[in-house]
Amino acid sequence: MRDPHAPPIRLLLVEDNPGDARLIETLLAEYGGFEITWRNSLASAKAWLAENGVDVVLLDLSLPDGTGMATVDAMRAAAPDVPLIVNTGLNDEEVGMKAVKHGCQDYLIKGSCDAQLIGRTILYAIERKAIERERLQATAQMKKVLLQTVRAVSLTLEIRDPYTAGHQRRVAQLAVAIGQKLGLAEHVIEGLHTGALIHDLGKINVPSDFLTRPGALSAAAFDVVRSHAEVGAEIVDGIDFPWPVAQMIRQHHERIDGTGYPAGLKGDAIIPEARILAVADVVEAISSHRPYRPSLGIDAALAEITRFAGSKYDPEVVAACVAVIAANGNQVFCDDDPPMPPGL
Ligand SMILES: [Fe+2]
Repeated sequence: MRDPHAPPIRLLLVEDNPGDARLIETLLAEYGGFEITWRNSLASAKAWLAENGVDVVLLDLSLPDGTGMATVDAMRAAAPDVPLIVNTGLNDEEVGMKAVKHGCQDYLIKGSCDAQLIGRTILYAIERKAIERERLQATAQMKKVLLQTVRAVSLTLEIRDPYTAGHQRRVAQLAVAIGQKLGLAEHVIEGLHTGALIHDLGKINVPSDFLTRPGALSAAAFDVVRSHAEVGAEIVDGIDFPWPVAQMIRQHHERIDGTGYPAGLKGDAIIPEARILAVADVVEAISSHRPYRPSLGIDAALAEITRFAGSKYDPEVVAACVAVIAANGNQVFCDDDPPMPPGL
């Protein structure tokens, strides 16, 4: 039962058949609590929506200027936050189900509704949309906190060790740009961004002296440096990330010809995100200043990855990296935080 003092629900009825529209108006008047605006075409409904607020849309699926799922998609694009219910003809239950898969909250079958059914269906659709909105907001908030936590962890390493200051952040910037160039899914790019930000986390276990010392390291010291891939992966192994972050960290020094470490994996045995990190990592390292040497320049970095494309580095990743740098130059690295992948 609706609160009698609640403001009326503003319903936009999109229906080209005046008889059907009148029937719905009559049923909703009987149920009570609705303020109905009737439009008889998709175009006039969209024009009305552009100027007016609405709580729910009831949409006929055979309009003069739109039929079937195209009508649903057009209405969802025009009013993505508004709950949408479709009105289908008799025997069109399948169409109704399809509409729900296209993002509608529910469907009604013409000629088979009484006032109670139609009223309740609309109220539940509004409720369902509100829950969906809250869920999306909660997910976005959780992702934001996760990213802030990952950045804090990333910064911890960089505070301890100026050698890596900004390195992980810049690798993340380049890796995201490469991932986007390769057309990877948004979710994969979010994971790549996260993994890149902490890919050197295991260096927390390496004495800074080993990382900053110019010249060659002893074999024992080099082994300790190389252990950072495995140590970093072990640190995050217990975190239930929605991406293979531990594998990205563990494999970012693997090379497709099997000459990398720690496992000497080859080709596709290395996950795509790690193949991207490998390229972004080496380009950033060569083109950045180091405490013991100035930058070798972006051209030297590109020469390195191009020379070893197909042997050490994934050639597709190299091509994407070269294209990204050709388009953006050094601007791909900036002092700001990495560009947020679209989902974050
Ligand atoms: Fe590394």
